[in-house]
Amino acid sequence: MVGALYFLALLSSTMAWGRAGLWSLDAARNGTGDRCTCDAFLPSSTFPIKDLVVIEQAAVEISHRVELEMGKLEDYETKLTAYAEKIIRLTVEIEKMEKNPDAYNDAHIDEIKVEIKQVEALITELQLSIKGSTTVFTSLRVEITVMVESLDMLEKSYDQNSVLATRREYIKVQLELEECERRHQEIFNPNIGSCSHSGIIKVSKPIVGQLNAQLNSGLKFGGWGKDSKPVPDRESMYWYSGYSSASIIDIRFYTNYKNLILRNHFQHHNLHSSWYGTGNNYIIRDNTMYYQINSPFGLAKLNFTTMKYESRVIPKASNRFSYTNSPNQFFDFAADESGLWVTYATDESSGRLVLAKIDEPSFGIEEEWVTTVYKPGVHNAFMVCGVLYAVRTIDIETEDIFYKFDTKTGKGSYISIPFERFQESYVNLDYNPTDQKLYMYNNGYYVNYHLWFNYTVEATIEATAEPALQLS
Ligand SMILES: *[C@@H]1O[C@H](CO)[C@@H](O)[C@H](O)[C@H]1NC(C)=O
Ligand SMILES: *[C@@H]1O[C@H](CO)[C@@H](O)[C@H](O)[C@H]1NC(C)=O
Ligand SMILES: *[C@@H]1O[C@H](CO)[C@@H](O)[C@H](O)[C@H]1NC(C)=O
Repeated sequence: MVGALYFLALLSSTMAWGRAGLWSLDAARNGTGDRCTCDAFLPSSTFPIKDLVVIEQAAVEISHRVELEMGKLEDYETKLTAYAEKIIRLTVEIEKMEKNPDAYNDAHIDEIKVEIKQVEALITELQLSIKGSTTVFTSLRVEITVMVESLDMLEKSYDQNSVLATRREYIKVQLELEECERRHQEIFNPNIGSCSHSGIIKVSKPIVGQLNAQLNSGLKFGGWGKDSKPVPDRESMYWYSGYSSASIIDIRFYTNYKNLILRNHFQHHNLHSSWYGTGNNYIIRDNTMYYQINSPFGLAKLNFTTMKYESRVIPKASNRFSYTNSPNQFFDFAADESGLWVTYATDESSGRLVLAKIDEPSFGIEEEWVTTVYKPGVHNAFMVCGVLYAVRTIDIETEDIFYKFDTKTGKGSYISIPFERFQESYVNLDYNPTDQKLYMYNNGYYVNYHLWFNYTVEATIEATAEPALQLS
């Protein structure tokens, strides 16, 4: 018996712990017909198979739940079509009644009222289902996050090959969930690109992709995301850059989300040393990176189509006012539905945040607004539909969108939209108008957030132009 145990322990410490390795261990225990039920206690330094098994099982379970949600989505789509038809029919009916009220008796009217009540009930039901799905997505995301984190840790500490198989399953599940969420978004929020809303009302829980491409949580400075105005054939491209200080020296491009997660870049650009960047509030737009440089202190751009650099100095901009907990963040670039923006502070503004619209063809400042928020009290900022949103830290796990400034009215106001951070520090937060999501580079992790907007009735009618909505 001792011999067998020793053999198992030896086997466990020398085997490549893939799936096959695990199952052959089970078979070996029962294979002899000998009713031996001893457990082989593996020294703690060997590979933690149990963890991997738990993760594998969770992957299968999550995958089933994603499938279930996909099924529901199809059901919603069918129902939505049916409701829309019904509402259109009712609208026509009501119009007829309005034109010729005498031709209808009370029974007629009651009948229509009942039908309207039915549609109302169906809409309520649908709304509840949508909420339900969103909650399911959130909890699936959290589960995946935990598992992916465990995988990252396992991969760093143990034989990478054995973790890779499980990681592949997770990537599959993550992609299924992405696809499911994308369809959910398409069905229930067909408003990408629309600004017919009065602003953000809610931010989702953090959606964590995984640790950066270099599997190094020491790379606390950096960024990731998508091009906000992609060139043809690069619509699904992602980019990532990470470093151990607030500098930018290189950047990697991935053809799509899957390759980002698999850490398969198709391009890796090293910046020319005289064009190294500072701060981490850079963005990619039109295949061009916009970032801050120190010499000359100002704005820089690198067009990856031509590999041409350009710079601009903003004489008033000061290098005295950075963001909270974030060194050397003097210029923060942002892109939204209306174009390219940059924020900074000046001595003239006494450190208050100044917002400027950049004219893309000339790379010059088109217009400037001075806000009332003191930049060192801001943790980060981003733009949505010509509105600046400033974020500050509340506590160890909470951020708050506390201020917004509308360039259309030239007015700022204090608001409060709290949201959760995944890990403590971050230096890069940006909105992307192509998917209406917020992207954060959080202690080396790829994190993003869904946003909810306050779509007004008029806005919805404008967006869909369906008679169906006249009811509301
Ligand atoms: C091994 O044998 C034990 C005792 O008969 C049984 O309870 C267990 O289910 C068996 N395990 C496998 C993997 O066949
Ligand atoms: C980048 O270069 C391409 C090719 O010359 C040009 O079409 C594009 O407008 C440039 N983009 C920016 C943002 O300068
Ligand atoms: C949404 O907008 C409407 C109309 O502008 C406003 O009355 C309402 O308070 C807003 N809701 C939220 C949650 O901000």
